[in-house]
Amino acid sequence: MTRVLVVDDEKSVRITLREFLQDAGYQVTVAEDVTAARQLFQSGIFDVVISDIAMPRISGVELLQEIRKGSPRVQVIMMTGQPTVETAAATVRAGAFDYLTKPVSEEAMLRCVGNAAKLKATEDEQVRVAEKAERQHKQLLENHARLCELETLRDNLTHMIIHDLRAPLSIVHGYVDLLKGSAASMLGKDEIGYLNTILININRLNDMIGSLLDISRLETGKMPLNPRACDVAALAKSVIASFDSLVGDRHLSLESASELVMASCDEEITRRVIGNLLQNALKFTPKDCEIRVAVSHKNSMVRLEVSDTGPGIPAEYHGKIFEKFGQVARTVRQYSSGLGLAFCKLAVEEQGGQIGVASDVGKGSTFWFTLPVL
Ligand SMILES: Nc1ncnc2c1ncn2[C@@H]1O[C@H](COP(=O)(O)OP(=O)(O)OP(=O)(O)O)[C@@H](O)[C@H]1O
Ligand SMILES: [Mg+2]
Repeated sequence: MTRVLVVDDEKSVRITLREFLQDAGYQVTVAEDVTAARQLFQSGIFDVVISDIAMPRISGVELLQEIRKGSPRVQVIMMTGQPTVETAAATVRAGAFDYLTKPVSEEAMLRCVGNAAKLKATEDEQVRVAEKAERQHKQLLENHARLCELETLRDNLTHMIIHDLRAPLSIVHGYVDLLKGSAASMLGKDEIGYLNTILININRLNDMIGSLLDISRLETGKMPLNPRACDVAALAKSVIASFDSLVGDRHLSLESASELVMASCDEEITRRVIGNLLQNALKFTPKDCEIRVAVSHKNSMVRLEVSDTGPGIPAEYHGKIFEKFGQVARTVRQYSSGLGLAFCKLAVEEQGGQIGVASDVGKGSTFWFTLPVL
């Protein structure tokens, strides 16, 4: 309900205004002069003030000025029985909502109060929306800071764990290996199988620790890189050859431009990037898929693509999979840690290239990266 304060030294005006404003649904309070109005203003909240200008001791214009200063959204309608250009100008200057000449008809007054109340409500709403946006913005900043904190905590923890894991793991590996060699004659086929499983898993753990360490080195700029002239097509060919045993029934092909173009990059790191992309194509696609590796060059960049006709990746994951531990939920497999592409992205970007994916669910994926031509 809109709260209206009527300030007038004439009792009849106060009574009349109160009556018809109340009938129109307003909550009305009256004051006989500016001093009373000030007191009411201190203890109550009003949306619209209707004030006479000429009152004993303190003029209504003074009240208007105080209200505009202290509560700028409260709309003030000024009334006078002796209109002059000066008072009209003074009230406009002081920010009155309207200036009415007495006697004011009920209709004109209700229209004026209605418009003032609407303006007040609109401005209140704007403030509410702005305050809400401000609160949400603050909350977002807090959440972001918290996430950053958690990410740092996770990275520190990961770093600590991988450093502490390496040594005991290599001891375990050493002893299992020793056991397998020296006690082989005393062990049955099953037991040898168990030891082999232990060794395979120790190697997996070692690989994961290695990936985490490499990512951490790349992130902190501590990965030693040795850029030199590199024939990316030849490199791709040799990586493909090393995956021979995993290809199975898939059709794996390599296409490259006939002209030799050398990239400037660290060969070992780039080999691992190609290896990761190829490994993914083999790991995440069915056995009868086609995998195509293509090397080309354009605008002083060498481009390598690994395309497959596998399940594809939903668009909402295209960014996420390049983050640490980022995986597409439904394709998460055992022994898949979500670190390969994070390593690839850091390694490619560190060498001045770019990396990305184009993929349609159900049709396949093309992972690509570029490196600068030498
Ligand atoms: N060729 C692909 N087809 C479909 N999904 C893929 C393909 N390559 C990657 N992905 C998705 O992207 C995710 C992230 O790949 P990434 O290489 O970073 O991790 P990973 O293969 O799961 O584990 P890791 O490489 O550490 O062994 C995968 O888990 C998979 O969900
Ligand atoms: Mg991978």
